[in-house]
Amino acid sequence: AMELAREKTLAGVRVTVTAGPTQESLDPVRYLTNHSSGRMGYAIAREAMLRGAQVTLISGPVSLAPVPGVAMRPVTTAKDMLEAVRETLPETDILIKAAAVADYRPVTVADQKIKKKDGDMSIPLERTDDILGWVEKNRHPGLFVCGFSMETENMVENSRAKLEKKHLDMIAANNLKTEGAGFGVATNVVTLITKDGIKELPLMGKDEVAGCLLDEIAARR
Ligand code: CTP
Ligand code: CA
Repeated sequence: AMELAREKTLAGVRVTVTAGPTQESLDPVRYLTNHSSGRMGYAIAREAMLRGAQVTLISGPVSLAPVPGVAMRPVTTAKDMLEAVRETLPETDILIKAAAVADYRPVTVADQKIKKKDGDMSIPLERTDDILGWVEKNRHPGLFVCGFSMETENMVENSRAKLEKKHLDMIAANNLKTEGAGFGVATNVVTLITKDGIKELPLMGKDEVAGCLLDEIAARR
């Protein structure tokens, strides 16, 4: 019960969180995806709800239970996720894009299962829609946008470049090569970057990371 006691710092604030991977089909049995478990995004959605926010969680396919008290919007592809963000954006005050969106999808989705053959197989790919790119062009005044950045090298430089390029208010960066950070674990090591500074958070549980991230956002909007 104590863990439910939070100061209602986000009372009445509408928060939309994207979480998990996307899946891009190749044929009826196969798809392209990534290792995102959705845990970071789900933790943020839950913490925002506990702080009194009205939360929508747009989630790619994950094996996590829905978050009680949060409006769940399950999606599969990057295109579906863009559509859900489009619909939710006009009623969003804070958008937190924790999802690991696929950057490419197969150019065609075969109707029938692709049978194996001798020789090499290559799969023609095309770029998916850049959801944050769309948000940048369609955002309303007062919207706070926090992106995520997962890197394996030059984390701060690369993440700062994304912050600027995508006109984000904040970016939460993590280095996949850091012990205790990234995919599939309950902890994370995150650096919060804004245009006027950076804040390195120590190794902590994803729920605690979520709390710190929301505190920073609440202090800045
Ligand atoms: N993102 C998005 N739409 C995409 C790809 C990514 O909105 N099609 C968002 C992610 O949800 C994340 C942010 O952009 O909040 C950064 O994602 P990331 O994969 O780190 O950045 P990219 O710009 O795709 O760069 P790269 O994968 O080349 O590092
Ligand atoms: Ca990417």
